[in-house]
Amino acid sequence: MQSHIRFDTDALELHLLDQRLLPMEESYCVCHNVAGIVRALQEMVVRGAPAIGVTAAWGCVLAVREAIFESHWSERLEALMESIAAARPTAVNLRWAVERMRRCRQQAADAEAGDLLELFMAEARAIQDEDVAACKAIGRFGADCLDDGDTVLTHCNAGALATAGYGTALGVIRGAVEQGKRIHVIADETRPFLQGARLTAWELQQDAIPVTVACDNACALLMHRGMIQKVVVGADRIAANGDAANKIGTYGVALLAHHFHIPFYVAAPLSTLDTATPDGAAIPIEERPAQEVTCLTGQPVSPDGVPVYNFAFDVTPAQYISGIITEAGVLHAPYGPAIARVLQEARPA
Ligand code: MRU
Repeated sequence: MQSHIRFDTDALELHLLDQRLLPMEESYCVCHNVAGIVRALQEMVVRGAPAIGVTAAWGCVLAVREAIFESHWSERLEALMESIAAARPTAVNLRWAVERMRRCRQQAADAEAGDLLELFMAEARAIQDEDVAACKAIGRFGADCLDDGDTVLTHCNAGALATAGYGTALGVIRGAVEQGKRIHVIADETRPFLQGARLTAWELQQDAIPVTVACDNACALLMHRGMIQKVVVGADRIAANGDAANKIGTYGVALLAHHFHIPFYVAAPLSTLDTATPDGAAIPIEERPAQEVTCLTGQPVSPDGVPVYNFAFDVTPAQYISGIITEAGVLHAPYGPAIARVLQEARPA
């Protein structure tokens, strides 16, 4: 799959494959300014923790372009960058990417706006390229967690579409397939945005990896019947103690996996580890519009005005996680020291 996030350096615009329309339509949404980036993030033209981080980085490039002509361009730039970081609250990769762009700016404190544009483009490109490399390493480490003939359940879409390419959870599956293992994937449909039924099914079909879609509420039956050997999911934020936020429904899958003694893995790059958040209770959970739940393909399916819970994420406690697969290896419990160690080792000297 060619990259679904493409920056045109001549026109200074970001092209995003519109994930709201997949798999029916493959068309690109073009963002010219920060307002367009924030809208694309909030309306989920692009989604998935690492992918929104990469988008945020390119958004900061557009922020420089936008601020450049203003008299107080530095303050304006900071305000624009903060609006990008605040677009969605749960996935830490979004703020992580903006923080990295801020550091880049601090290192070039004396740079004119024109030079900053070049520096920001190089940094955004590095963030995008590093994410692909991280996903491939996750795939290599994670492949060893899967056995030939496994059926693997995944929830949501933690694939190429959710990253800069290759994927985290789907990276593990791709890695195992590249090792010659026969893997069958069950994609939970993932109500209400249907990341599994639409996106995971689409991208695995493109790679000819066998995939079957199941309703979210079929999980207990499938596990009870012995139809699932492993679970691999992505994450939006992993707290210092290993509690992991991911798409709503993941916690239920983890509890069922625990009940049926099925290994449950979380695959995520180091940029998803957040030691500033002590545990899952401190992770902010995004709540999204009611219409996502009460309407199907634009048609209402609930009585008008009914109250709705639309929490977009939940938190799986660390005790239910068999391993956290990162680009630096597979972490095991106790996760607190394992996370602290891996981040310490990854920090540049
Ligand atoms: O609301 P979304 O689609 O952005 O949620 C995405 C997920 O929950 C993914 O599983 C997570 O971001 C990991 S993506 C590699």
